[in-house]
Amino acid sequence: MKKIILVFVSVFSLSLSARGDKTADPCSEVSSWRLEVCRFAEANLKHSAWGFEHGKQDYLLAKDLAEADRHSVDDEVLFAAALLHDMGAFSPYEQEGVDHAVRSAQVVASVLEPAGFPMDKLERVQKAILAHNYYGNVVPETNEALVLHDADALNFLGALGAARLLSVVGVEAFAPNVKSVVDYLRTFEQTMETRLYGGVYSKAEGARRAQWLRQFLDTLGKESYAILGAD
Ligand SMILES: [Fe+2]
Ligand SMILES: [Fe+2]
Repeated sequence: MKKIILVFVSVFSLSLSARGDKTADPCSEVSSWRLEVCRFAEANLKHSAWGFEHGKQDYLLAKDLAEADRHSVDDEVLFAAALLHDMGAFSPYEQEGVDHAVRSAQVVASVLEPAGFPMDKLERVQKAILAHNYYGNVVPETNEALVLHDADALNFLGALGAARLLSVVGVEAFAPNVKSVVDYLRTFEQTMETRLYGGVYSKAEGARRAQWLRQFLDTLGKESYAILGAD
């Protein structure tokens, strides 16, 4: 009985610690190459959905996934990959016809090398970046790639997913109005869980975030007389 209670307490505390209740900004009180990467991201990756803040959110969630599902990760690789995984979507790095993950992997050294990152780990950073897209067909080969992929997918769900996507209405070509974003969110709510590679915690977090998003979209449909999607 004591053992059962101990297991329950440890699972409960793990789920609490992995629910985004951490307040530590991964870019505060950092030094050396991490500070340079943070400075670069803050100055150059400005976007409400896939900019500097998103990189930090992916890093924190990926760390939680690694801890909860016991994936051993190299924190330096994860930090660099998470903060810079979308840089290929920004000018001057983006390239027409080339997926932003591929571009990010191609150009990430231009930030990491002058920052003083241990370049013997560059390949692991590139692997994680290349596999991050939920829609991509690159299977994560490393633990850093796996948790970054799942963190990025999970951050399209839940309150954060809704906030991020709604923030680009009228800004991005794929989101000319609220209804267009609602349609994307509905697809994410229905399919994103199947894209996760991770373990029990990742899947549970996917179910929780999908459920939250489902309720949000159902309520939005009702309150808008189905103009913003039916429930
Ligand atoms: Fe991305
Ligand atoms: Fe991303």
